[in-house]
Amino acid sequence: MPKYLVTGAAGFIGRSITAALLARGEEVRGVDNFITGKRANLTGLDAIEFLEGDLRDPAVCAQACAGVEIIFHEAALASVPRSVADPVATNECCVNATLNLLIAARNAGVRRVIYAGSSSAYGDTPTLPKHEAMSPNPMSPYAVAKLTGEHYMRAFTRVYGLETVVLRYFNVFGPYQDPTSHYSGVLAIFCRKMLAGQQPTIYGDGEQSRDFTYIDNVVHGNLLAAAAPAQNVAGCMMNLATGARITLNQTFAILRDLTGYGGEPEYAAPRAGDIRDSLADIHLAGELLGYQPQVEFREGLRRTVEWYRACARE
Ligand code: UD1
Repeated sequence: MPKYLVTGAAGFIGRSITAALLARGEEVRGVDNFITGKRANLTGLDAIEFLEGDLRDPAVCAQACAGVEIIFHEAALASVPRSVADPVATNECCVNATLNLLIAARNAGVRRVIYAGSSSAYGDTPTLPKHEAMSPNPMSPYAVAKLTGEHYMRAFTRVYGLETVVLRYFNVFGPYQDPTSHYSGVLAIFCRKMLAGQQPTIYGDGEQSRDFTYIDNVVHGNLLAAAAPAQNVAGCMMNLATGARITLNQTFAILRDLTGYGGEPEYAAPRAGDIRDSLADIHLAGELLGYQPQVEFREGLRRTVEWYRACARE
């Protein structure tokens, strides 16, 4: 019986956590409904027990949770603009599915659930860096949905004693992130376009900034969260990021070097629901997990460009 369940195992972050667990010799079950996950992302993960199903269905949640000890809950409908276009779908896939999963986890005697929170919970508060004691200020349906999941996590620790840990991710990027949808993360889109010699679009003036976090850092934080003593982390929420920020204009300039793209970006109107600046205070994850970023932004971006370049050659 697998010890670990990864939800969204065919998605970008779920796939990466699954691969790291397998590399440690762990037994893993993965679940995905393939709404945004890709079958191709399961290549190389043949050793997992895979369940195709949708967490909006309580029966799927029960099957997924049976016998496991630790869950990495990565399944979601990511993207702020997707939630602006269809808030109900985001709510169903982020809130209803999370509640179903927690109920199934409690019923199955799962010990710990580690939840993919989102920096979008902080919203457009002017204070930087964002630290965990700040009041949330969700600006989009996506932010509301991810934040609601956080509240359910904490409530399940308080009421049922399930060990839950919330990791608030900040703009994760890296290999296996889908670059093909206009709901994709900006770096995935820019890498694909610029490698193909196509002009990327910057929404707004490009001076918005993000704490872009390379995937290996997020995987590292999750593995630490799985291993941390319950008295340190159960019912806790913490940022998972690099603690540095960069503007889109600066990022574009670095990508021009890395990809060899010779043109300029196109500038378009700012996107609804966007926030201006985002930067994490990462001290709490340092204290509670011993977390330190493993790969800095430029090196992460270099590896990411190389990965998309290799994909484009296939
Ligand atoms: C938000 C959340 C993040 C969450 C992610 C899920 C914040 C601070 N972050 O990221 O935690 O995981 O949603 O999708 O709320 N942009 C362009 N051109 C493009 C695409 C995007 O200029 O082609 C711009 C956007 O307008 C935005 C920035 O790039 O200003 C980043 O966008 P995106 O990658 O979608 O992430 P966030 O919305 O910041």
